[in-house]
Amino acid sequence: MERKWWKEAIGYELYLKSFKDTNEDGIGDLRGIIEKLPYLKELGISLLWICPFYPSPMRDNGYDVADYYGIDPRYGTMKDMEELLSKAKEAEIRVIIDMVLNHTSDQHPWFQEALKNPDSKYRQYYIFRDSKERPSNARSCFGGSVWEEAEEGVWYYHTFAKEQPDLNWECPLLRAEIHKILKFWLEKGVSGFRLDAITYIKKGASLAMAEPDGPDGLHDVGSLGQNQPGIGEFLKEMRQVCLDGTDAMTVAEAPGVPYEELGEFIGEDGYFSMVFDFSYADIDLLPGGNWYNQAPWTFKELKELIFKSQCSVQKQGWGAVYLENHDQSRSLNKYFREKAAAAEEKEKHFLQASALAVLLMGLRGTVFLYQGEELGMVNCPFSSVDEFDDLNTKDQYQRALQADIEPEKALKYVNDRSRDNSRTPFPWSGEKNAGFTQGVPWLKVNPDHTLINARQQSEDMQSLYHFYQKLIALRKDPAYLDVLVYGKIEEIPVENEGVIAFCRTAPDGKEIQIWVNMTEEKVSAGIHAREVLADNYQGTEIENGILMPYQACMILV
Ligand code: GLC
Ligand code: CA
Repeated sequence: MERKWWKEAIGYELYLKSFKDTNEDGIGDLRGIIEKLPYLKELGISLLWICPFYPSPMRDNGYDVADYYGIDPRYGTMKDMEELLSKAKEAEIRVIIDMVLNHTSDQHPWFQEALKNPDSKYRQYYIFRDSKERPSNARSCFGGSVWEEAEEGVWYYHTFAKEQPDLNWECPLLRAEIHKILKFWLEKGVSGFRLDAITYIKKGASLAMAEPDGPDGLHDVGSLGQNQPGIGEFLKEMRQVCLDGTDAMTVAEAPGVPYEELGEFIGEDGYFSMVFDFSYADIDLLPGGNWYNQAPWTFKELKELIFKSQCSVQKQGWGAVYLENHDQSRSLNKYFREKAAAAEEKEKHFLQASALAVLLMGLRGTVFLYQGEELGMVNCPFSSVDEFDDLNTKDQYQRALQADIEPEKALKYVNDRSRDNSRTPFPWSGEKNAGFTQGVPWLKVNPDHTLINARQQSEDMQSLYHFYQKLIALRKDPAYLDVLVYGKIEEIPVENEGVIAFCRTAPDGKEIQIWVNMTEEKVSAGIHAREVLADNYQGTEIENGILMPYQACMILV
């Protein structure tokens, strides 16, 4: 297997707005990242993915870009960015940035010009239609039709909010602009890109009428808008023009790609270095993505999804693995549901979170941690819908009400699934505003910060933070690289469905087994370890092959 820096990297997604505020405006900023680089370095991170920092009206927290070449003044300046890139380099941390290329903000000068002047070239940069009625009945990701009427009889298309008009990739001039943007940032010194919503760039089925899937007469844009025939031409061109011949990496948010087609995306000659797979992160969602229809699921299904994903990816190329990101609820709550430990249940909290850590760090693919995951952050209790910031959450709440769900229940559903669960300010300490800001934080601080925070865990050698540090060091250890990074993965079938077990094998036959007990029961698993490399029961032997409640380990056999 060909060695690449990005296969060996330990990734960390950084939600800039919530990471660290240095100028008391309640919003995280680039100087905050610079200040906290030593924290990330100590954890062992070698790759940072920074969420959008471009000038933006922040309708969707920066995923509505108004200038691809700039820095939003709330986050800092281009000089701050340059300093961040050079300090990160000194710390041997690569930086990739979020590229939102499916749409812009409606405040982007291109769109403003397109609205003002139908004859301008910018009109071709977007998708306009002259029509009496809305041209099709696809439902946008954040609710309502994908079509918005710009003026009477003239519509424009948006996959997400109406303030996020979609770009028209059919237009060669637009594609040239995109290539220019990517080259600009590579020259600045970034090591690659996370490509937002990239499987939506080619329009196809969503432009025509479809069978409604809800009482609103619309049909979810997901199935109609993702991965449409012909998308490969745009993606290949982008790779050839901007990335071939560089050592930059790309990781694509690529929903809608069936496993049979993965090779085109991540194989030998694939469009990207790797993609994020949503199959198990979205295990609690039904098709259509309505949060108030949370799907029941079992550990058996979870295991099936994980191994199906891992095996399909390994057959065809390289993947990215994660349990949390800025669009998901916290993994402790998601995977342990009503059994999830509260922050007060210190021991159980450590065991559950460290069990997930062993699982994640054992999987094949470039690992991405999400900020706060290394501390075992949990969902934040929001007591009213007004406390949320996220437009998606608000839409889901309204849709729950429209589906005749009682307000209290609707609030519970969005509390469970809201994207704001992972966006609350980073808990640096147990002090006021969790040490995130001296000002007024832009989003509620999780009240648990007095129990779960970085200062406390940095000082406590038995903490989750230090457990992650050990696992990361193990994964980076040259002695295990051929197994833990490059090795094959194979499921170890276990009768108890709450035990996830697999082995990683190097070409020379060296084997590491990973065992994770997701249940609160003792489970007899028949494990025989030659050497224990990591164990969340720290030091106690794995006796008689029995796994203790939530025990998780990596062993040499
Ligand atoms: C992606 C981002 C999400 C954003 C959406 C629209 O899914 O991860 O946060 O809302 O794209 O850009
Ligand atoms: Ca700030």
